[in-house]
Amino acid sequence: MRLTLQTPLDMHLHLRDGDMLKNVAKYSARDFAGALIMPNLTPPVTTIEAVNEYKKRILEACGDENFTPYVSLFFKESYTPRFLEQAKPFISSIKLYPNGVTTNSEGGVTDIDTKRLSPIFEAMSELGIPLCVHGETDGFVMDREREFGAVYRKLSDTFPKLTIIMEHITTKESVELLKTHENLYATITLHHLLITLDDVVGGLLNPHLFCKPIAKTYEDRAALLTVALNAHEKVMFGSDSAPHPVSKKECCGCAAGVFSAPIALSALAGLFEKQGKLTNLQAFVSDNARKIYNITPPKKEVVLEKTEWTVPAAFDSVVPMFAGQKLAWSVVSQ
Ligand code: NCD
Ligand code: ZN
Repeated sequence: MRLTLQTPLDMHLHLRDGDMLKNVAKYSARDFAGALIMPNLTPPVTTIEAVNEYKKRILEACGDENFTPYVSLFFKESYTPRFLEQAKPFISSIKLYPNGVTTNSEGGVTDIDTKRLSPIFEAMSELGIPLCVHGETDGFVMDREREFGAVYRKLSDTFPKLTIIMEHITTKESVELLKTHENLYATITLHHLLITLDDVVGGLLNPHLFCKPIAKTYEDRAALLTVALNAHEKVMFGSDSAPHPVSKKECCGCAAGVFSAPIALSALAGLFEKQGKLTNLQAFVSDNARKIYNITPPKKEVVLEKTEWTVPAAFDSVVPMFAGQKLAWSVVSQ
């Protein structure tokens, strides 16, 4: 059995920089036509020059693959409407991190005050720049996303023309918010469709499934599956593939992030097939994102085949999701 996907997109991807970028970019570039690249480097991507130089380094790391990097700019309170106007042609979104909630988010926003930040959000609304948000408070780990719901509601109500992407949603309340607020959209990861907190800490601790936001309950996962498998038009695939060297994962003080880029498409095909929803995968991994972001990436066909393969234990010293396990679908060509 074969499946051909047209122009698959990963709308939340960490490619890092330097050697890590050189090691991991090829996996996304092989399987996807493009991706929204997150700006949480050290230092973060906050200037037009940094965006353009980062794009160049990404393209270099992708070699000859047909792959479009859509780069997101790291939200700073100091941005002016004039700067945003100049940045608009070079960026695909602005990513807002509450200060300190995840990897390299120091320098994020401490207080998401819709009054103080209104010139930025108004300018983004006018210019049509989507706002991507890491939606977690600094509360109890299982409640952080739920608590952040109040901020999403306020942003959505105050700036109705702003496209707001709730990144990597993990709760049933976030799924509900999508339905009640017209300008809210969401990315959903592969791992949050497959695992719950049980898989992270319920048995022996699995650091390779530890990520922000932490995987939640069975009920939350069921809500995510319903909208993803039915390719609800307000959700799109964003892997949040976040590679860390094995030494930063298998240690005390394990870094947050699941490395899923090399297995994402084949695991998604397996999941959608098992649930009898294979025909909806095209919309979930491409069509919805193209509409939400209003983008037309260069065409790329990616063919999958139902042929079992074993996921390697590591890719260049980064341990992937499903390391050593068998997956039913393989990416065979472009
Ligand atoms: C991401 C990373 O490592 O950059 N980690 C994660 O657990 N998802 C950051 C993020 O998206 O929160
Ligand atoms: Zn991320």
